[in-house]
Amino acid sequence: MSDKTVLITDSASAKTSTLPLVSGNMGEPAVDIGKLHKDLGYFTFDPGFVSTASTRSAITFIDGDKGVLLYRGYPIEQLAKQSSFLEVAYLLINGELPTSAQFGAFEDEVTHHTMMQESLKNFLHGFHYDAHPMAMLCGAVASLSAFYHDTLDISDPEQRRLAAIRLIAKVPTIAAAAYRYSIDWPIRYPRNNLEYCTRFLHMMFEVPSEPLQLNPVVAKALDLLFILHADHEQNASTSTVRLVGSTGANPYACVAAGIAALWGPAHGGANEAVLKMLADIGDAKNVGKAVEKAKDKNSGFRLMGFGHRVYKNFDPRATIIRETCHQVLAALGVNDPLLDVALELEQVALKDPYFIERKLYPNVDFYSGIIYKALKIPTEMFTVMFAIARTAGWVAHWLEQHQDKDTKIGRPRQIYTGATTRDYTPITKR
Ligand code: ACO
Repeated sequence: MSDKTVLITDSASAKTSTLPLVSGNMGEPAVDIGKLHKDLGYFTFDPGFVSTASTRSAITFIDGDKGVLLYRGYPIEQLAKQSSFLEVAYLLINGELPTSAQFGAFEDEVTHHTMMQESLKNFLHGFHYDAHPMAMLCGAVASLSAFYHDTLDISDPEQRRLAAIRLIAKVPTIAAAAYRYSIDWPIRYPRNNLEYCTRFLHMMFEVPSEPLQLNPVVAKALDLLFILHADHEQNASTSTVRLVGSTGANPYACVAAGIAALWGPAHGGANEAVLKMLADIGDAKNVGKAVEKAKDKNSGFRLMGFGHRVYKNFDPRATIIRETCHQVLAALGVNDPLLDVALELEQVALKDPYFIERKLYPNVDFYSGIIYKALKIPTEMFTVMFAIARTAGWVAHWLEQHQDKDTKIGRPRQIYTGATTRDYTPITKR
């Protein structure tokens, strides 16, 4: 708590409220409005939480104007170059980079929780053959709470820790199984002699009849994408996990709620929407028309993969992905015409006053879909890939929330716009 305050005066009653400023270690301070209602009888109104900090958190820091993203203080550029997804997951959860021994123990534990119960497999088989894998993932992750009664006591730190490990370990297994079911291929069990991303790729693509020849570029690119998507402070899905967590719900239910929130095209669903949009545009020569349509508010069309609530300069993840996209396509010998459409779209939009004035830049999802496509990940799995990576962030926030003594049930207020008080009329008199 800082010793600075903000004085609010109600011009109607001349009553005042002196509100303290709350500062973190970096970033802008916030006004603690906790006693505003008591002093002046007012709530605050902030649809979409544009100006509202919902919690203290020591996990991830973003400076949207400068394009800075830090996980536990470490710049995303350094982690992308030097770390691995599993090490980043450890960092997000524990706050510090692991020693070799700590990392070995963590990797070992995650690796030995990768199996899913056989009856969970049957549960997946209950879905219709054309179910979207996000629907299957969401349902199957929620159902984990029915399998792991020994990690549902959220007052026990060891049970909480174990639930976090189980989620990081099992979400890729469930995700790959959902995909295999959707294409009517037999589910592959996790091969625990492989590391995290390679194991996932084997579960996705290996057939029982022959060994999978995997280009190491594919696993490396996937690991990088997972690092970049692992956390992003209080985004919509993480805030959902925290809101559900604030009720005392079990960790599997909380993460399933996060998956549901991620699915929307304004959030993680954008990576799937970007690829559909690029395919619809079809050719670089049609880009001008698409940009004009995105500027026309009556069209209901937005450039998917453009704009961000927090980044108003550039999204540092997009910069890394853009570079990686070229490298991966070159290394895999993929010549994707959609990349040409994407590059042209970026160029045209970045020069257009509409996008400049509104500070709309490509976000993390603008190029990630093109890489996923080059890695042969099907489009309907794109948001699932995001969910696998973001599970690390979700569980880190859920764990942090349960160590924070200030956590209370999240319960916003409203401005009521419905009918005023009126008397019930019997149906015969209406
Ligand atoms: N294309 C065209 N216009 C846009 C776009 C876009 N992609 N994004 C925002 N705008 C315009 C809005 O129409 C609005 O214009 P106005 O001021 O004339 O009314 C202005 O820019 C501000 O937009 P808001 O919707 O108020 O910004 P907000 O912060 O609420 O939304 C969001 C951010 C949801 C990301 C938005 O930019 C968007 O819909 N982008 C496309 C979807 C997308 O890529 N989502 C992924 C986000 S990253 C992630 O979740 C991983």
